[in-house]
Amino acid sequence: MQNFDYQTPTRLIFGKGVIAKLPGVMTQFGKKILLAYGSGSIKKLKVESLKLKDGSSTKATNLYDLTKELLKGYEIIELPDIQPNPKYDPSVLDGVRLCKEHKIDVILAVGGGSVLNCSKAIAAGACYDGDPWDLISYKVKAKAALPIVDIITLAATGSEYDSGGVISRTETNDKIGYIDRHLYPAVSFLDPTYTFTVNKKQTAAGIADAMNHVMEQYFVEDATLLNDGFCESMFRSLMVNGRKCLENPEDYTARAEMMLACTYGCNGILALGNSQSGWPCHGIEHALSAYYDITHGWGLAIITPRWMKHILNERTLPRFVKYGINVFNIDKNLDKWEIANKAIDETYKFFESIGIPMHLRDLGIDESRVDEMSHHIAVNEGLDQAYAPLTEKDIAEIITASL
Ligand code: NZQ
Ligand code: ZN
Repeated sequence: MQNFDYQTPTRLIFGKGVIAKLPGVMTQFGKKILLAYGSGSIKKLKVESLKLKDGSSTKATNLYDLTKELLKGYEIIELPDIQPNPKYDPSVLDGVRLCKEHKIDVILAVGGGSVLNCSKAIAAGACYDGDPWDLISYKVKAKAALPIVDIITLAATGSEYDSGGVISRTETNDKIGYIDRHLYPAVSFLDPTYTFTVNKKQTAAGIADAMNHVMEQYFVEDATLLNDGFCESMFRSLMVNGRKCLENPEDYTARAEMMLACTYGCNGILALGNSQSGWPCHGIEHALSAYYDITHGWGLAIITPRWMKHILNERTLPRFVKYGINVFNIDKNLDKWEIANKAIDETYKFFESIGIPMHLRDLGIDESRVDEMSHHIAVNEGLDQAYAPLTEKDIAEIITASL
């Protein structure tokens, strides 16, 4: 078992109606709030009236209005229109400028992972005098960041419980996972009812993203029995509850369990004591998203089974056998190679069954930039250090097999 030094400082407030605690939570951070959100889903997201401590009831009927109603008395500056695969220019730059101009005390991110990721980069940029890209590109280490509170409305990234934010810079085809201990949200509100309106495409992408987060931590050289158990249970929970969410988007129990499973995905708790994985599928997918702006979870679902086939060999075989038996209940008496190959096929079939197009061509990606992307990934993602090390040629083969 490997040594580790671990701390997650984020307070999770989970369940239906928990947003009623928002005014009390925000008092500790100051009076000036940057309210960050996306292209409008929070204005369509219907909410019920809440009973407040003073006996009054809220009047707002959507999440945007409710947030503002709960925070009357605060000075709120808005940063709308943060796009999926959030962009450095304009969103991060605009956010940093607003924080500095208005001397913002705290950022409130309301939305999916993209809104929260963008808010994390802004939080660090607001406390830095130079170009915020210095921080995101790891040229300079952040010394501080503004506090972040979030109300998460999409179960997928786990950003609500981790210290990472993924930012795209269009002109250089960069999509960088910016990780820094200052970027943990101070408080995350998780109300599963806010995910009822997430459409089938984004729900499936969220399931695939969270499943891949677990895979990135499960396929390693040294793993503990303890972590394997957590991971295998995460896989089963995400598949069972993910399907239920797709069949009945307002199934509270399924949405709640999926939300919590996603929250555990990226904060490292599933890999404590394990050896490093290198997160190869994310390394590859981030380049696909950077070049073609595709949906992260879809890209991962397409890459994952091809990556699995590519790295299956005598050394990795036992991990795939364990995965096949414990996650897909494949007969343990079969030949080991048959179990491993069946497990990979089952992974593919699951993603296909939840409506994900399983070829990159379906997302508008062809062979024309495979070499360029593979080179970019090989130079920037360090996948030669992964559990199953990947060269530029390996990366090109995996992408080509995914077309
Ligand atoms: O633009 P808005 O109005 O916010 O609409 C969003 C967006 O169109 C919509 N949406 C969000 N909540 C909704 C909703 N629609 C209806 N009802 C709701 N309740 O869904 C669309 C996608 O939102 P987005 O935030 O982009 O999705 P997600 O949460 O999957 O975030 C994806 C981004 O996170 C990065 C990905 O690369 C991608 O850029 N990742 C972040 C990670 C992290 N730890 O922070 C780890 C991941 O591996 C990942 O790389
Ligand atoms: Zn991911």
